[in-house]
Amino acid sequence: MRFLQSVFLLLIVHHVVTIINATILDPKVPVLSGARFLTTSYYEKSCPKLEAIVHQKVNAWVKRDNTLAASIIRLHFHDCAVRGCDASILLNHIGTERRAEASKTLRGYTLIDDIKAEVEKQCPKTVSCADILTAAARDATILVGGPFWEVPFGRKDGRISIAKEADMVPQGHENITSLINFFDKLGLSFVDLVILSGSHTIGRSSCHAIRDRISNFKGTRKPDPSLNGTYLNSLRKECRLDTNYVNFDATTPRTFDVAYYKNLGKRMGLLATDQLLYSDGRTRTLVDILATQPEFFMSQFAVSMVKVGNANVLTGKNQGEVRLNCNYVNRRA
Ligand code: HEM
Ligand SMILES: *[C@@H]1O[C@H](CO)[C@@H](O)[C@H](O)[C@H]1NC(C)=O
Ligand SMILES: *[C@@H]1O[C@H](CO)[C@@H](O)[C@H](O)[C@H]1NC(C)=O
Ligand SMILES: *[C@@H]1O[C@H](CO)[C@@H](O)[C@H](O)[C@H]1NC(C)=O
Repeated sequence: MRFLQSVFLLLIVHHVVTIINATILDPKVPVLSGARFLTTSYYEKSCPKLEAIVHQKVNAWVKRDNTLAASIIRLHFHDCAVRGCDASILLNHIGTERRAEASKTLRGYTLIDDIKAEVEKQCPKTVSCADILTAAARDATILVGGPFWEVPFGRKDGRISIAKEADMVPQGHENITSLINFFDKLGLSFVDLVILSGSHTIGRSSCHAIRDRISNFKGTRKPDPSLNGTYLNSLRKECRLDTNYVNFDATTPRTFDVAYYKNLGKRMGLLATDQLLYSDGRTRTLVDILATQPEFFMSQFAVSMVKVGNANVLTGKNQGEVRLNCNYVNRRA
């Protein structure tokens, strides 16, 4: 009976996923307006070495510091989550997203600058910072054992970046409804929410972000009751200081696998929002399936990453620009 049940659920998920695939592949579906102008061959003539440069740089930097892989994937998400994938997160002057409270633990900017410098040497004034960040996130995923996907290119860089917009990106204290709504505005479904949260199979969180779960959940002065007791004890030890960091995946922290979903079943989700994916009926079924279907996770992660990379992109002549330095908008001529 249980077996039949899972087969049935898998069929449903497969159906949902096929629809998602159709959304990406069928340019007539108007959900993601600018995204249909992106193509994998965009820089084929104008910057044929782009992907090789990105690949070489990401490899070299991650070899020196393997925590950077997760940070680049997160940086890409935070870019796309605000004003679409337009490199608005990279702008570095007073009042930008990058300077927001919610962006404090974002990192990887220097790697993007290094890639941009090399790309400007080989193909000046051609490749946007948004495209570089998107390609870097793909390569970072591969380096930690995740799937490959073709990156559609042609995003332009935005000229606007506002700190308080960055503070609206989910921080781990939201309910599932507000996460679903937030993702919806990016053209992402609840399936994408569950799949992309799987990024938390690698990387770390500052203890600051989970302090309340350890000691004062919703003002109760008690830990979050949904936390596994053994896990809670280890978090207490690792999080003596707010400035400490703790791995998202307590079992295989550096490997891109389905342990994240397995951990949720053991009440070992690090953020309240991670654990909610398991306690909420709308997402739990999918979590259960993913915990035992690594191939399914890998192929759908690729699909969902293409979708997040399509979010509200700027394309066409009158939108955005190709920034010369990822930290600053171009001077108007
Ligand atoms: C579903 C809503 C999400 C919430 C609430 C959330 C929240 C967080 C938080 C609080 C952190 C730790 C920040 C800190 O150090 O204090 C984090 C890290 C991370 N997030 Fe998410 N996130 C979400 C979705 C995503 C998505 C969609 C992706 C990728 C596509 C992603 C990728 C990552 C990665 C890789 C890290 C680790 C970064 C590192 O090690 O430097 N997250 N996230
Ligand atoms: C979705 O598309 C990807 C590649 O485009 C493919 O590998 C995957 O099998 C597809 N999934 C489904 C369920 O059709
Ligand atoms: C979820 O969070 C939103 C925003 O904080 C709030 O307005 C809403 O009432 C919450 N929904 C539930 C079911 O708790
Ligand atoms: C708590 O975690 C341990 C592994 O660390 C696991 O064996 C146990 O089943 C978990 N407890 C619950 C309630 O899920």
